[in-house]
Amino acid sequence: MKKLTMVSSLLVAGSLFFVSCGNNEGKTASANADSTTTTTSAAVSSAPWGETDGKQVQLFTLVNKKGTQIKISNYGGTITSWVVADKAGGKSNIVLGFDSLSGYLAKPPYFGATIGRYGNRIANAKFSLDGQNYQLAANNGKNTLHGGNKGFDKVVWDAAPATDGTPSLTLSYLSKESEEGYPGNLKSTVKFTLTEDNELQIEYNAETDKATPVNLTNHSYFNLSGDVSKGILGHTLWIDADRYTPVDTTLIPTGELKSVKGTPFDFTTPHTIGERIAQVPGGYDHNFVLNKKGGDMPLVAWLQDSTTGRKLEVYTTEPGLQFYSGNFLDGTLKNRDGQAIPKHGALCLETQHFPDSPNQPSFPTTILKPGEKYHTVTRYKITIQ
Ligand code: GLA
Repeated sequence: MKKLTMVSSLLVAGSLFFVSCGNNEGKTASANADSTTTTTSAAVSSAPWGETDGKQVQLFTLVNKKGTQIKISNYGGTITSWVVADKAGGKSNIVLGFDSLSGYLAKPPYFGATIGRYGNRIANAKFSLDGQNYQLAANNGKNTLHGGNKGFDKVVWDAAPATDGTPSLTLSYLSKESEEGYPGNLKSTVKFTLTEDNELQIEYNAETDKATPVNLTNHSYFNLSGDVSKGILGHTLWIDADRYTPVDTTLIPTGELKSVKGTPFDFTTPHTIGERIAQVPGGYDHNFVLNKKGGDMPLVAWLQDSTTGRKLEVYTTEPGLQFYSGNFLDGTLKNRDGQAIPKHGALCLETQHFPDSPNQPSFPTTILKPGEKYHTVTRYKITIQ
């Protein structure tokens, strides 16, 4: 068991907020922080993490009593680290990330970041709404990707760690009218909660004063083995989607909702990722149309690494899931431990509305109007099998 010394050093570096757990263990830990506290208490701590855009950046650490530890920065709403146990009792980090802010200021491909105002692509960086044409930044060939040149992943959010209930962190950001070409002042909040069931719940809320597209997601890259050199081709994936959105050569959906039957996109029965990836030009980077049977927030996908026994379950209110198999990773970036991150070193499961929805009237709408409340929830749950 790790003892108080570690907690004390957190206190020196920043602030520690104990969570009132509603049981004796939690209360004792909270009341006797100077002598009996251990890291088995659920808590949120914060530490200064540098500065950018003239603003202070913080790194928050959420821990639960199972010993899961998730670090999130208010720079980009970025999950920088996610340490969980394996079946042998070891612990490792299951997401790509860096230990310092400088790694993120060098613009890695969205490692762990909150993505907005619009996750994924909008064709030709253009859309029209209420009779007006809007020009966005073309930061991915002729298309716009993940919010433009300075999306929500590259701004400093206001942060409020919570000290009651389970450990949580709420981030908020006001994206002003015309930022990256989008209409309306959009106020977004993203609440991260780490539960005792080893779930990270991410709850997105937004309001606008003018109609605008909104599509918020998280861009964590997972490798459940904790060892990027092993890659993710041996991971097993299940996705509850009978259809996907095929794309053109610039990764814009053609508009068709195509059956996965008889294709390498059929993950309705579990398959390893490597099994059929050679049949998918460029690798998997596609939006799956989730079946969404069974409640508001059903299990929509799971990913498993049999060597460590770790399984990641994804639950969401969203209609789509972008499965990206890390095709553009190429060994030039180094993970926090200095290991080069190879192609397919990690993968993303981004819950979302479909790419290019503002130009695809048959897709579920992404337009948020004044007076409406944008509200989506995604839960990533880690179990050991
Ligand atoms: C998303 C996209 C990919 C790629 C990555 C970032 O997941 O779908 O095509 O741009 O982000 O590299």
